[in-house]
Amino acid sequence: MKLMNPTLRWLPNWNLPAFALAGTTGYTTNGHTRQPSRRASRLRGRLLGRKRNRAITAIDIGTTKICVIIAEVNEGGSLSILGVGSSPSKGMRRGQVTDVDHTVSAIAEAFEIAHELARIAPSEIYVGIAGDHISGIDVEGMVEVTNPNVGIDERDCNGVVKRALGFSMPADMEVLHHVIREFLVNGNPGIENPIGLYGTRLEVRAHVITSSIAAANNLTRCVKRAGLKTSQIVLESLASSLAILSERERELGVVMVDIGGGTTDLAIFCQGTLQYTAEIALGGDAITQDVSTMLRCSPHDAENLKKKFGHANPLSIDGEEYIDLPSPLKGGRRVSYPRRELAEVIEARVEEIFEAVKKVVDRSGFRDQVYAGAVLTGGTSLLDGIEAVAERMLEYPTRIGMPQGLRGMAEVVSSPIYSTGVGLIQWAVHEGPGYQRQNWLIRKIKEVFVDIYG
Ligand SMILES: Nc1ncnc2c1ncn2[C@@H]1O[C@H](COP(=O)(O)OP(=O)(O)OP(=O)(O)O)[C@@H](O)[C@H]1O
Ligand SMILES: [Mg+2]
Repeated sequence: MKLMNPTLRWLPNWNLPAFALAGTTGYTTNGHTRQPSRRASRLRGRLLGRKRNRAITAIDIGTTKICVIIAEVNEGGSLSILGVGSSPSKGMRRGQVTDVDHTVSAIAEAFEIAHELARIAPSEIYVGIAGDHISGIDVEGMVEVTNPNVGIDERDCNGVVKRALGFSMPADMEVLHHVIREFLVNGNPGIENPIGLYGTRLEVRAHVITSSIAAANNLTRCVKRAGLKTSQIVLESLASSLAILSERERELGVVMVDIGGGTTDLAIFCQGTLQYTAEIALGGDAITQDVSTMLRCSPHDAENLKKKFGHANPLSIDGEEYIDLPSPLKGGRRVSYPRRELAEVIEARVEEIFEAVKKVVDRSGFRDQVYAGAVLTGGTSLLDGIEAVAERMLEYPTRIGMPQGLRGMAEVVSSPIYSTGVGLIQWAVHEGPGYQRQNWLIRKIKEVFVDIYG
């Protein structure tokens, strides 16, 4: 008997949701309330006797872009991407809101674009969170089994998890997620699902992810001011890993590295379970700044040069190759610059990022359990040559991960830039409040009945 759907094993579904489900069917922008055309399609579906598919909105509030994805879960669980909207993010720094007005208008703009394409405005809204205020800790709990003669039941499991989560933490922090690593019955470890087992003592070992209450509130407030209501806040690295890692990689052990604009998010999985998470306050924007300083050009030009000519491995660039730099003066003469030197500037910063990643992996204690290597994602993983630097610095085989196996506007989101957004949708499918949990409970009750009464 399994504790949960195998794809969810690394993220059990206890104690959800942290945020109330949105009850709205419409949304407001610029003060106007819009009636989503979903109503019409729902009615049409009812008349035709069809069941309405579940629709979900994901909002990835990144340092460089705010992205909204609207998707529908088809029968059989596959995802159709119905709409994608993106807007430059100017009010975020290292995963935290620094300018509410900018963030609000960027969310509203991205949502508007996605909604125009999708023609529906799902009220289930999942928002990503990141930043160096996030931390992960290991906790343990123990309870006496209520009815040892009958066996361990759901209540015992909930009780022991609650006990483990009752650890003391700073008043300005809250538990964002918790991941059950294993249960122990009478001291026997490695138990995935203790329900129905006989024993007197039940213990649990879990990994808890905490976040700053203020950072989470700032996000939900911005979303609210954009006319939307947050259903749940989800750690971005967890979301990204859902979109890009295979079950086999999670089993073998893998380090997921999401290198965005302002932050690099890490998640380490071993034996199918999330073991460690960390955030590094450094990302691709630091590379752009270096290029801007080195070439004495505007951040905008530096960003374009980085994307067009950037490389993380100078030795693979011909020493005779020159690039044209834009002139700072209108009509001024263009200046040529050796592309290899640009790559040297970029390599130095990329090495610094992976040096920090390596330190985190070493500190985690899981270095020797990572047999599937590293998977890079996030916009900076698009940088040419970055895979080779990661392999050299981390000493792991490395690949670039991006969302796959989607329908609808799949080609638009098949980029490492959209890993978090697509992952938020996938989180909702597997872990969303009220859905999986109810199914899981019903399934468990049935299983226990079958076990006891045959
Ligand atoms: N082709 C490319 N080559 C190099 N870098 C790129 C490329 N495309 C995007 N980037 C970089 O990726 C970064 C943005 O990535 P992403 O969209 O994942 O970040 P974000 O989610 O907004 O930020 P964060 O996750 O840090 O909050 C920027 O620094 C951008 O310059
Ligand atoms: Mg991001």
